Amino acid sequence: MLTLHSPAKINLFLRILHRRPDGYHELASLFQAIDLMDTLTFQLDEKDHLSCTNPSIPTDNSNLILKAANLFRKKTGQSFGLNVHLQKKIPHEAGLGGGSSNAATTLWAINQLLGTPIALKDLITWAAEIGSDVPFFLSQGTAYCTGRGEAVFSLPLLKKQPTWIIKPKQGISTPAVYKSLNLNKLPSRDPEKTLRDFYSGVPDYFNDLEQPALEIMPELQTIKDTLLSSGFKTVLLSGSGSSFFCIGNEQPPPITNCHSYQANWINRPLQSWYTDETE
Ligand code: C5P
Repeated sequence: MLTLHSPAKINLFLRILHRRPDGYHELASLFQAIDLMDTLTFQLDEKDHLSCTNPSIPTDNSNLILKAANLFRKKTGQSFGLNVHLQKKIPHEAGLGGGSSNAATTLWAINQLLGTPIALKDLITWAAEIGSDVPFFLSQGTAYCTGRGEAVFSLPLLKKQPTWIIKPKQGISTPAVYKSLNLNKLPSRDPEKTLRDFYSGVPDYFNDLEQPALEIMPELQTIKDTLLSSGFKTVLLSGSGSSFFCIGNEQPPPITNCHSYQANWINRPLQSWYTDETE
């Protein structure tokens, strides 16, 4: 039996470059793992079985955990069943990568349970078949991601910033946000310059998906304004939303129909998985 934590992520900046012939969008983004984490317990078994503390999460083959198990079997030709219990804490439809993180954690777990037959770089390549954000979670927690998000360049940890996650009850659909994106309206920032600026201590937090998300869900603007007026200098949508991350030492005010979580930026050592440093 193996118990692992599965972290969420935020996008410190997210630049959308263009729409690709395959329907995806070419992006450039600095991803950071945070300690808002699910807990997964894995056991090899006769057949697959997934249970979850949150009844609204599907536990059939549409769940990325079982997709990861299926992919591992397909790639290796090994036959095994996987029994997984998921203690869900990361909200979904939040732009925090919860499902993708669970999938990456599952690939890592199966590899451990089978005696690490597969190199990490191969797990990262396979992970892209599950979803664009899955490879990031196999990095060490800070990475510049390009392509549709799956090309992962691991980077050293930045200076950790005090961070809050604010999640409205209502979620938002990632494809819907991408669909309402107007590429002609985006400022023409050079993401590699933004990346250099982050590492020289002059971060420019921005997200090209924020405007389309605010158009789909106008109540997000009120939430952002409330957080800015409570003193946070940086309040930014994470990924395609609907959650915001706020940077600063302030306490977020209570906001109707929103849940807030305090989060630390985290990294993992090269040879081992993420741990919960508060435990
Ligand atoms: O790769 P994943 O399944 O997580 O993507 C979900 C959806 O988000 C895609 O179907 C697509 O609509 C959108 N997407 C995109 N460009 C990306 C990543 C995701 O258009 N780089």
